[in-house]
Amino acid sequence: MYALIGTWKMSLKGISEGGQLLKEGSPAGDAVACAVMDVEANPAFVSVGYGGLPALDGQVYLDAGYMDGNTLTCGAVLSVTGIASSFAAARGLCGRKTNWMLTGEAARKFALSLGVKECDLRTKESMARYEEAMRTFNPGDPLTAYRGHDTVCVLGLDETGRMVSGTSTSGLFLKEPGRVGDSPIPGCGYYCDSRYGAAAATGLGEDIMRGCLSHECVRLMRQGMTAQQAAEEALRDLVEKKLSIGEDKGSMSLITLAPDGSFGAATTEACFPFAVATPDGPCLYTCVPGEKGMEIRAADPDSVPD
Ligand code: GLY
Repeated sequence: MYALIGTWKMSLKGISEGGQLLKEGSPAGDAVACAVMDVEANPAFVSVGYGGLPALDGQVYLDAGYMDGNTLTCGAVLSVTGIASSFAAARGLCGRKTNWMLTGEAARKFALSLGVKECDLRTKESMARYEEAMRTFNPGDPLTAYRGHDTVCVLGLDETGRMVSGTSTSGLFLKEPGRVGDSPIPGCGYYCDSRYGAAAATGLGEDIMRGCLSHECVRLMRQGMTAQQAAEEALRDLVEKKLSIGEDKGSMSLITLAPDGSFGAATTEACFPFAVATPDGPCLYTCVPGEKGMEIRAADPDSVPD
C-alpha cells in the first residue's frame, strides 16, 4: 500500500505527481518533497514559498518542517528568507543528531550549502498586495489565517511502510518579522511515527501550537483510533477548550494518515479541501463539518475554489 495526502486544492498537482513516484517505488520522502516543492515554486499560492505574502517589513520569511516516521528524526527551518525551497533545507537537516532546527541566516546558509537556489521570494503581485494592505494597517489589528489555503502539509506512506510528514509556509500575511507558527515545530504543525500514523495541521499557528495537534492525532491513533476519529477528536477537544474560555473556535484544519493507508481530516472551516493519491489514483476531497462529525466527500476540482 502507498498513500500521499496534502492540504488544500493547491496540493493536488504535486500530490498526483508524488503519487506516481510512490507507484513506481520511490521512497515516501521523495514523494512528499515532490508535492511540497511543487506548491513552493508556484507564485499563484501566496501562503507558501515564492510569491508568499510578506511580513510587516516587506520581506518574506519561510518556515518548514520534515519528519521521518521510521526514526523519529526531524529537520526544520524557521524564519528563513532568500531561498527557493525552505522544505529542501528542512529535509536536508533531518537525520542530524543535534542542530536540526535552524533559524534565519544560519538556515539560509545551510540551504545554500545544499545547493538550494537563492531566490527573491517577492513578486510584483505580492508586493502590490503588501503595499495596498499597509495603507490601512493598524498595529494591533488581529492577524487571521488565510482563507482557502495556508500551509502546504503533506503526509506520505511508501510500500516499505515508511511514513513521512512535511510542511512549508510563508506564515501569516503582515506577521511581525521573527514570528514563527506551528509549521516548523514537530508535534504542532506535523508529526509522524510509522508504527502509528502521521498528521499535520494548517491554519492559525498560534492556536494549533496550544493543542500540539499533530502529536495529539498520532497519540490517539496509537491508542486505537482510526485516522478519521483521531483528527476529529484532537480538533474537537481543543475547540471545546477554546469555547469554554470564551474564545471563538479558531481557524484550524488537520490531515491524518494511518499505516494501512486510510486517511482522515477535520476542520473548523466551512469547507477544507485536501488531495489524496493512492493506488486508486489521485482525488480531491472536501471535509465539511456536519451534524454528526466531519463529512468527507470526493470533489470535482473545478467546483472547488483555490
Ligand atoms: N499555519 C501557519 C502559520 O501559522 O504560520
